[in-house]
Amino acid sequence: MQHSALDNAPPHGLKHVAIIMDGNGRWAQARHRPRLYGHHAGAKRVREIVQASKDLGIEYLTIFAFSTENWKRTQVEVAGLMNLFRRYIAKEMRALHDEHVRVRFIGDRVRLDAKLIALMDEVEALTRHNTQINLTIALNYGARDEVARATRLLAADVASGKLCPDDVDEETLPRYLDTRVLPDPDLVIRTSGEARISNFLLWQSAYAEYEFIDTLWPDFTGDELARLCKGYGARERRFGATSA
Ligand code: IPE
Ligand code: IPE
Ligand code: MG
Repeated sequence: MQHSALDNAPPHGLKHVAIIMDGNGRWAQARHRPRLYGHHAGAKRVREIVQASKDLGIEYLTIFAFSTENWKRTQVEVAGLMNLFRRYIAKEMRALHDEHVRVRFIGDRVRLDAKLIALMDEVEALTRHNTQINLTIALNYGARDEVARATRLLAADVASGKLCPDDVDEETLPRYLDTRVLPDPDLVIRTSGEARISNFLLWQSAYAEYEFIDTLWPDFTGDELARLCKGYGARERRFGATSA
């Protein structure tokens, strides 16, 4: 029988961790190898981090794999990344399912190729009843694009009379976001030393805690994740109120 991570509430109190997996290019450059070598090394880290998250009792892990802005990279890098995503999903699908991981994707699928979309649909369908951990992969994701698409859907509901403009509030818009079924992230981690968000989960992370760490993504380990979770447990989140 599968146990939900909810059965053992972890001491750090973290439910949702989101990671901006940055630094693959610099990792490869340091080894005088092409950038794609770094992306392959980065993809290999995902399994350990999913496992570590599970062991830490984290219920939701969201990882930023490709942004709506990453199309600006060279054709060679973009094609290599798309190829990697296809190969990665095909290769890892079984293992993720065997580990009771529920996989979802966020982002706009319109620009992705049909073969990749079919694999995304397949792994989502295969793992849809899994409850151990929710792994969400942000692929062709951009927060501004997501909010724009959500607004379009919301406007269509207003136009058709399904929704009254006066009823639109902070609870309404998130129901149109790609993340509608996910809780907001508690902790957002960015590897590789950059202290910026780069268009990741802007609405959802309004009150998240942030950790910007120097480690390059292909060097990030489960132990480092555990250390960050421990650090999170020591923080006080006030959400605008005064201390208890
Ligand atoms: C993150 O690593 C992966 C993607 C954005 C696809 P980068 O490729 O951005 O690595 P750096 O920042 O150039 O080192
Ligand atoms: C953010 O990293 C996107 C992903 C990790 C997928 P980038 O490397 O694209 O961000 P910038 O360009 O440094 O802001
Ligand atoms: Mg980068």
